[in-house]
Amino acid sequence: MPSFASKTLLSTLAGAASVAAHGHVSNIVINGVSYQGYDPTSFPYMQNPPIVVGWTAADTDNGFVAPDAFASGDIICHKNATNAKGHAVVAAGDKIFIQWNTWPESHHGPVIDYLASCGSASCETVDKTKLEFFKIDEVGLVDGSSAPGVWGSDQLIANNNSWLVEIPPTIAPGNYVLRHEIIALHSAENADGAQNYPQCFNLQITGTGTATPSGVPGTSLYTPTDPGILVNIYSAPITYTVPGPALISGAVSIAQSSSAITASGTALTGSATAPAAAAATTTSTTNAAAAATSAAAAAGTSTTTTSAAAVVQTSSSSSSAPSSAAAAATTTAAASARPTGCSSGRSRKQPRRHARDMVVARGAEEAN
Ligand SMILES: *[C@@H]1O[C@H](CO)[C@@H](O)[C@H](O)[C@H]1NC(C)=O
Ligand SMILES: *[C@@H]1O[C@H](CO)[C@@H](O)[C@H](O)[C@H]1NC(C)=O
Repeated sequence: MPSFASKTLLSTLAGAASVAAHGHVSNIVINGVSYQGYDPTSFPYMQNPPIVVGWTAADTDNGFVAPDAFASGDIICHKNATNAKGHAVVAAGDKIFIQWNTWPESHHGPVIDYLASCGSASCETVDKTKLEFFKIDEVGLVDGSSAPGVWGSDQLIANNNSWLVEIPPTIAPGNYVLRHEIIALHSAENADGAQNYPQCFNLQITGTGTATPSGVPGTSLYTPTDPGILVNIYSAPITYTVPGPALISGAVSIAQSSSAITASGTALTGSATAPAAAAATTTSTTNAAAAATSAAAAAGTSTTTTSAAAVVQTSSSSSSAPSSAAAAATTTAAASARPTGCSSGRSRKQPRRHARDMVVARGAEEAN
């Protein structure tokens, strides 16, 4: 990037620090098929935004939900969220790759995933306040030996700003909302200083599981004084308790890895469901051919087709973390300087640090 552009961007961002914030999920990938998410920075300005699997929300600044809104509907699926009008099909036991457009390094915190059954209702019309979320994945503090620690958010950044979550193989088939969330803790030592970035997606889960875990309404997930919400990450050694209900039995937070995109899928709408044949072949979590077949069948209404052989889900074995992950984690651990509170309107001790994060993030975004 030319230095003129850098300077211009830097001063623009520094001036806009009170509104600049930090990211959204651009797409999710299921067995190689990429489904577009809701883009809060552009869809609100379109006359006919596309039907997508991501819930509509009013976080046009890529902003966050603060603890003082934990009892409001905004915490469920982000600000003023309304139901996604489409859904994607996934087999229980399959993995979903969740791609953020960007995430700033200073915004350390846990990455958490929940599911909530839409019951007999379609997730496209369900009342969000009736959804009861159960936790299927959480990665909080990975290494707290030196402040501000290495976190789930750092693993996400090292994984190309993306997160891999497994739908537990035991989950009963049906329509579910996936609630994916990063909680940024860089200002969390102050009351109301944590920043929640929830994002929701509609899924039709197939398979032969029977588990129907109980959950809690979104408005009961957290309180502003939970130890995982009101917490100082700048004093090592750090200890941390991920907030929210306990993980359901059978849930596994898998190692992070990438997921190659081999086709783009179109969100299914209405009562469109996975073809019965696909649903019948998706019980195995290790049978890649069956999973690929399921994905291809699920994408059946889209304009692209996926050949089973072309679907590549990179192995999630523990050794598969990209080598840049280790480097990123090292850098992160060494960088213990306290960043600004960004749009939380609190500590602005190091605006430069924050602006740099944003420039890096913007640069990465523009490079795409
Ligand atoms: C959410 O909706 C309320 C009521 O319509 C409105 O006043 C508020 O500005 C909206 N919030 C955002 C972030 O758009
Ligand atoms: C990282 O994600 C971007 C999308 O944000 C994508 O264009 C790029 O190909 C990804 N890089 C790798 C190495 O997967």
